[in-house]
Amino acid sequence: MTISTLRRTTASTLLADKQSGRTNVWLTAYDTHSAALAETAGVDVILVGDSLGMVSLGFDSTIPVTLEHMIHHTSAVVRGSDKAWVVCDLPFGSYQQSPEQAFASAAQVLQKTGCDAVKIEGGTHMATTIKFLSERGIAVVAHIGLTPQSVKKFGGFKKQGRNPEAAQLVLDDAQAVSDAGAAAVVLEYIPDDLAENITQTIAIPTIGIGAGKYCDAQVLVWHDLLGLSEKNPPFAPAYANLRDTITKAIEQWADDVRSGKSI
Ligand code: KIV
Repeated sequence: MTISTLRRTTASTLLADKQSGRTNVWLTAYDTHSAALAETAGVDVILVGDSLGMVSLGFDSTIPVTLEHMIHHTSAVVRGSDKAWVVCDLPFGSYQQSPEQAFASAAQVLQKTGCDAVKIEGGTHMATTIKFLSERGIAVVAHIGLTPQSVKKFGGFKKQGRNPEAAQLVLDDAQAVSDAGAAAVVLEYIPDDLAENITQTIAIPTIGIGAGKYCDAQVLVWHDLLGLSEKNPPFAPAYANLRDTITKAIEQWADDVRSGKSI
């Protein structure tokens, strides 16, 4: 059954949903057609993640993704959506230097794409930047736990917050971004009980990916959900096998063309 989203998602509806216990569904998308499909299926929020670099552009991390890539794809997503809240990832190098740099990047993204919010990676150390943007009217989603733009520092895509000291740091990050005025926070690849604790402690919605079911929302990457990725992360379930379906369809057509059955 497809559920059409009857209302437009906003930062206020996300907060109200946390307070009333309505779980939100977030999904990444990178083009107009996918955005329209996600919305028809009832997704509340479309995230134009910088995962774009890995799932669509052939990079082995998100680090090479540029502001131009994000603007190009976010504009396409906005053209395909109507009711969903559209969030654009600020890519590596476009916001970490200073709050002013982050503001200039976020302003470009909002003006050129028409999206609703920007997402930045980092907790306590990005709180000043989040406050700076939020005070200037920009809706900011924070992203803590496993932050893929720091993959070179982490030494791989590893679960975060696994011992009491590391868990306390993630909890501190969550509190810091909430206090700084973030509209929501993505919790990536942290223990379920830590995500549950964060969700109960902070005022803003938590969006889990590899963080268990006790979050206010869940997010998945389009290619992982639909079985298009070569290999899913351990925490990302595939609900279809489109790699197989697409390959078989192309093979079938190629056979028909070569055998003269189809033109
Ligand atoms: O880039 C992305 O797709 C993300 C999600 C994994 C949350 O940040």
